[in-house]
Amino acid sequence: MQEPVPTRPRLVSVRRLPPAIAARIRQEYDAIQAEAHDLTQEQALAALRQSGAQALLVSSSFRMDAAFIAALPPEVRIAATCSVGFDHVDVAAAQARGLIVTNTPDVLTGCTADLAFALLLAAARRLPEADRVLREDRWGPRGMGDFLGVRVWGKTLGIIGMGRIGRAVARRARGFDMRVLYHDVAALPPALEEGAHHVAQLEEMLPRCDMVSLHCPLLPATRHILNRETLALLPRGAVVVNAARGGLVEEDALIAALQSGQLAAAGLDVFEGEPRFDKRLAGLPNVALAPHIGSGTVETRDAMGHRSLDNIAAVLAGRPPLDPIWS
Ligand code: DGY
Repeated sequence: MQEPVPTRPRLVSVRRLPPAIAARIRQEYDAIQAEAHDLTQEQALAALRQSGAQALLVSSSFRMDAAFIAALPPEVRIAATCSVGFDHVDVAAAQARGLIVTNTPDVLTGCTADLAFALLLAAARRLPEADRVLREDRWGPRGMGDFLGVRVWGKTLGIIGMGRIGRAVARRARGFDMRVLYHDVAALPPALEEGAHHVAQLEEMLPRCDMVSLHCPLLPATRHILNRETLALLPRGAVVVNAARGGLVEEDALIAALQSGQLAAAGLDVFEGEPRFDKRLAGLPNVALAPHIGSGTVETRDAMGHRSLDNIAAVLAGRPPLDPIWS
């Protein structure tokens, strides 16, 4: 009698992936993987129907709204997002559909904190402008008062959202002899505070901060947490960093504060409506801009891909997922 040919699990990846992750998928799955372009929602649904896949691999830039989730073929059991944030997923719709959704916490903490700190330094020390001076061959005689940035070491940093990434930023700030305050819904146990001090009211913390870095999730309660009113509470000449989610900051108010000098500078990795962003920002010299690259290192993107595949493997083998976004 002939041995039955074991069928391999099937997977659709909507994003182009690092080589190591794409190779692991080819080894373990019958897969449809985005190659030249990322897949749209319609293309992802077509690929899922064509392949009969049980698993879907996405990232934070792929919207899994209620309509998309409702249209998923019944075979799909898990959607793994290569991100810690999951504001792109309609959680209620996923729960109602019985879809397991997993994310990738922990593995991207250090690199995202590094990027937030890089933006803080770049914005405060005017690195984008300085870089342009050399590229445009404009380095000439300069007065002692030209090109002055804002000192970072020894200043007070306010962290909004003291989860894993916020705490990792606090650790880095300690290395720069900074005082660190944080605002979150509750104070952490002292062992987790990284030497930072909890301030229960955002309105009380902001006037004490020379610099502010956002690290909270995007929720209805945190949308536009930095807005015209709260930005005005910062001392004049403060620096704002956002490497979390664009929707946390009211962009019009941020631009007005940068134009008026209320803010000396801002470092931004995220924007409302990505990949589009308000082009007025590009015209401002006191802004360091990046296209959502917080987790963008070889090591971290590989770790995120492997963790997502470990989540998928667990679920398809009938085991609990490692990182369910709800339990
Ligand atoms: C995340 O993991 O949420 C990062 O923003 C990358 O998308």
